[in-house]
Amino acid sequence: MRVVSVIAAKGGVGKTTVTANLCIALAASGRPVLAIDLDPQNALRFHLAADLRAGDAAGLVDAERGACSWTQAMQRGHHGVVLLPFGAIDDEAQIDLEGRLAAQPHWLADTLASFRLPDDSFVLLDTPPGPSVYLQQALRVSQLNVVTLLPDAGSFATLPIVERMVDKYCRPRADFIASTHVINQADASRRLNRDVLQTLRDELGPQLLGVVQQDQAVSEALASATTVRHYAPHSQAVDDFAHCADRLLAHFAAAPVAGTHLYR
Ligand SMILES: Nc1ncnc2c1ncn2[C@@H]1O[C@H](COP(=O)(O)OP(=O)(O)OP(=O)(O)O)[C@@H](O)[C@H]1O
Ligand SMILES: [Mg+2]
Repeated sequence: MRVVSVIAAKGGVGKTTVTANLCIALAASGRPVLAIDLDPQNALRFHLAADLRAGDAAGLVDAERGACSWTQAMQRGHHGVVLLPFGAIDDEAQIDLEGRLAAQPHWLADTLASFRLPDDSFVLLDTPPGPSVYLQQALRVSQLNVVTLLPDAGSFATLPIVERMVDKYCRPRADFIASTHVINQADASRRLNRDVLQTLRDELGPQLLGVVQQDQAVSEALASATTVRHYAPHSQAVDDFAHCADRLLAHFAAAPVAGTHLYR
């Protein structure tokens, strides 16, 4: 299986949107895709759950504590993507869960290995902003990172925070391929936006996976409880995400370790 983590030091930059739409674009190319929500906000389901009335459905938190099986916690989402939502949790249970995850550094690696997914599967992990036990777990299994940032100085300034974690948890692993970047919500009509975008392009070079334009279709699709691909199949955003997914596939194809089994 191939494991991709969508990460950022900052909140609200589009991690969940990027995770969901990369999953959909990869599924459209015929790959089996499992989307895992590692963020207690439990928001990935708004993008991917085929039936939002199943909002109280079991999730990762329930399977982790043995209240249901992992299969029961997964649901078939839009466009054939399989979704493992985070699930609903109260503050005390969340603190307990985080304590258990901190004490079991390889919990996610072991859990993913137990799924016995097909070799050509993609697992995409949505993470909360900034350092957390969820991000540590994700980075310990991630082969390719998608660092999401906005074309603004604030996003750029926070890049070292995730870079330090990538250095610690990813780079020492033989199966790690690369940290790539998606610049989200680009707006060519704004001068400052264009200037920062150019600086980021120069700075990131081949690490840039792609640029996703700010596109009303993204927020409108979310408000309509559907996917951008359903809502506006010919939108700029769908094109941009398809391009990012192609580049992601190219990274795996070019990596000598692509397709290897989960490494511990
Ligand atoms: N390319 C885009 N065009 C227009 N709106 C977008 C785009 N990407 C994201 N958004 C909007 O920006 C908001 C934040 O996106 P999202 O929830 O994906 O960010 P996040 O990084 O996951 O946030 P959090 O840190 O809270 O998890 C949402 O309302 C989403 O619809
Ligand atoms: Mg999010």
